[in-house]
Amino acid sequence: GTPNQFDQAADSDYAQAAARQAAEKAMATVRQQLGQTYWPIIAGEALETETVIDSENPAQPSEIVGRVGQITVEQAEQAIAAAREAFPNWRRTPATERAACLRRAADLLAERRAELCAWMVLEVGKVLREADGEVSEAIDFCRYYANEMERLDQGVNYDISGENNRYRYFPRGIVVVISPWNFPLAIATGMTVAALVTGNCTLLKPAETSSVIAAKLAEILVEAGIPKGVFQFVPGKGSTVGAHLVGHPDVHMIAFTGSRQVGCQIYADAAQLKPGQKHLKRVVAEMGGKNAIIVDQSADLDQAVAGVVQSAFGYSGQKCSACSRVIVLNQVYDNFVARLTEATKSLNVGLAEDSGVKVGPVIDGKARDRIYEYIEKGRQEATVAVSQPVPEEGYFVGPTVFVDVAPDATIAQEEIFGPVLAVIKADSFDQAIAIANGTDYALTGGLYSRTPSHIDRAQADFEVGNLYINRGCTGAIVARQPFGGFKLSGVGSKAGGPDYLQQFLEPRAVTENV
Ligand code: SER
Repeated sequence: GTPNQFDQAADSDYAQAAARQAAEKAMATVRQQLGQTYWPIIAGEALETETVIDSENPAQPSEIVGRVGQITVEQAEQAIAAAREAFPNWRRTPATERAACLRRAADLLAERRAELCAWMVLEVGKVLREADGEVSEAIDFCRYYANEMERLDQGVNYDISGENNRYRYFPRGIVVVISPWNFPLAIATGMTVAALVTGNCTLLKPAETSSVIAAKLAEILVEAGIPKGVFQFVPGKGSTVGAHLVGHPDVHMIAFTGSRQVGCQIYADAAQLKPGQKHLKRVVAEMGGKNAIIVDQSADLDQAVAGVVQSAFGYSGQKCSACSRVIVLNQVYDNFVARLTEATKSLNVGLAEDSGVKVGPVIDGKARDRIYEYIEKGRQEATVAVSQPVPEEGYFVGPTVFVDVAPDATIAQEEIFGPVLAVIKADSFDQAIAIANGTDYALTGGLYSRTPSHIDRAQADFEVGNLYINRGCTGAIVARQPFGGFKLSGVGSKAGGPDYLQQFLEPRAVTENV
């Protein structure tokens, strides 16, 4: 392959006093701004709505981070009409101008880094360091997709004597982006700017629980110069407004990241041809995982424990990339489990804003209850090795480790999306691979090993979109680890990779006899 020339944004270095002070100052400023109301942006105007939801701090639910207007189905129709009207001009806007908007957005994200981190800490309970990584990722998506669009815009020429053959990419039309709360800035930005830079009019419908951060992103995109009607911010209820947009005959494409259940529903609904619709829709859906890390007898166990703990419990396990199964070869099983147990017990659980806290809250009360149901189920299926006490206020679940879990147990098969880890014993490396592949998902996977034949075997046979050898299995970086899975983990090519933008484009071939 060609070497990658892309320069990723650097994360903050909180070892430096200046970065810590900037973070504290931003947190104080943001705390002054809590409880404000944010309106949808339709045809370039802030649109007042009848319904407004409260977005709360999951660590202290009495703290209202902001209030966000929710559009109705009629207002969604207005947005579609505005997008239709804006499309002809945006479609003709040169790719370099569209790319320039993304580069301005990247600069604005960088300027507002500390502030955006504070919003994420408070709205979704993500610890500072991880929120900071998200700002870097959002910046990278803007700059990388800007470059990518300029590359694709060159097209390909297949000219021969007497005949010019030009292969060129064109925008599809209207894209609906349905973004998740777990990477409320990075993933919302990635899907949205990909749709925009490729010349599509784009409607962003964020997850309810992260709609304040999405409103901040909307502000940034408007300030970066995305024209009226080209970008619209359409917070609303998924089951009504989201479903209406997905089924709309004027929508060409849906870019979704979220649960398997909703993703499969969108895929099915988008397939229905509606009266007046003259195209079939494309769906890009990034869904769940039941990601496994294999630890073999040659692994560096210190490294393996650290990588598994970070991958399983970072952001309380609420990443589609999170490790939720660790498959350990019998020779090192007891030793690994003892060390894993100790390391997990030492994790501090608490407010995401407190430095020293590793595990913050989960997103809301519904998530907490669902995770506790799985933990109950796990108690019937396996043995609890670690279960941590948690603060009383707020939606907390302590890091939980189950050992001696059967590969087909519910907690070893279903995505829990919380800080729950199943440890499974394997008798051979073959069996470890078979167990790893024995779920509906294929998103991320990991291997800790110093055995070349095992490393080769994993590369060939471990069914995942992103395989990590001798490191944790979360934290993919744009243009370094293009991210995404297959099987029931999703459909579409990888975010932050060289094939991503093509999905938002329609290629045409023009032949001219000369
Ligand atoms: N890209 C994220 C990660 O790699 C997950 O969405 O952790």
